[in-house]
Amino acid sequence: MAKQKKSDPYAKPFLKWAGGKTQLLDEFSKRLPAELAKGKITKYVEPFIGGGAVFFYLNQIFSFEHCCICDANEELILSYRVIKKSAKKLIDRLGILKSEYLAKDDEERELYYYEIRDSFVKKLPGFTFQKYGPGWVERAAEVIFLNHTCYNGLFRVNRKGEFNVPFGGYENPDIFNKDNLGNVATLLKNTQIIQGDFTRCRNYIDDQTFVYFDPPYRPLNHTSSFTSYSKNGFSDRDQKRLADFFKELDAKGAKIMLSNSDPRNQDFLDTFFDDLFSGYTIERVPARRIINANGARRGNIDELIITNYPTGTR
Ligand SMILES: C[S@@+](CC[C@H](N)C(=O)[O-])C[C@H]1O[C@@H](n2cnc3c(N)ncnc32)[C@H](O)[C@@H]1O
Repeated sequence: MAKQKKSDPYAKPFLKWAGGKTQLLDEFSKRLPAELAKGKITKYVEPFIGGGAVFFYLNQIFSFEHCCICDANEELILSYRVIKKSAKKLIDRLGILKSEYLAKDDEERELYYYEIRDSFVKKLPGFTFQKYGPGWVERAAEVIFLNHTCYNGLFRVNRKGEFNVPFGGYENPDIFNKDNLGNVATLLKNTQIIQGDFTRCRNYIDDQTFVYFDPPYRPLNHTSSFTSYSKNGFSDRDQKRLADFFKELDAKGAKIMLSNSDPRNQDFLDTFFDDLFSGYTIERVPARRIINANGARRGNIDELIITNYPTGTR
């Protein structure tokens, strides 16, 4: 039963990930399904896991029997799998990368970054993401290292799927935290980790499941490239496919929460999500968000929170 837990280790995201939801946790907490506190929900599923802020938070507060996390991004899912299976080896390897990096001056650090990035990209063709193998710990260490030393913590790839973010040049990057990785490994013990499209979670979801969807944002304007976490992107057709999946799971009796940016921030007449999810509970909450890809403009814009149950706030 998903009862409230008290004294668990505190795990938090181990990667910087665009669209991280740490700042919205309070708003989400106010809108969780009542069945969760009553212990009637035993499973948690998050099909667009990204940095995992919501998963870490909920899987610490509630004792779910099972969780299932999924993402289309192969490198991201590989990192979760390595932490679950080989946290100690990963921590050892990251310790070496971190001390080698920090021992260098600024110029050498930049060279070191590009050396690791080049070797990471070179190993991509033919790399087996499907089956755990000898190169996995090294690759996960490189993902975490590059994520904390690259520009803005972006995970951007070109059309061939090659990571191409430039060096960040930060003075004191917090590359990894040993205790946090240990706590993340503990939290992943009850968790199935899936790589692929969000619909691959289908069979894990029943009427005792809480599902949280945090899909790539619908771009605020057509030139924004903020949805390119993966080489495939996420189009309006995918948003519609997701709405259909939401309805299918609703019919199964699952409790569902979905968030997205509100297109009415830009164009008041753009009722894309209001139309797709008409009949469900739709709320708007203020969120601070980077508005363009180079991070130069930030501002307050609304985030949509859509649920298939009434929330306590209305
Ligand atoms: C907004 S991010 C999730 C942010 C995350 N909840 C957090 O708090 O950090 C969206 C994620 O969806 C993933 N994604 C894109 N297309 C997908 C698809 N078709 N199925 C599953 N995941 C997908 C991206 O790789 C990205 O990690």
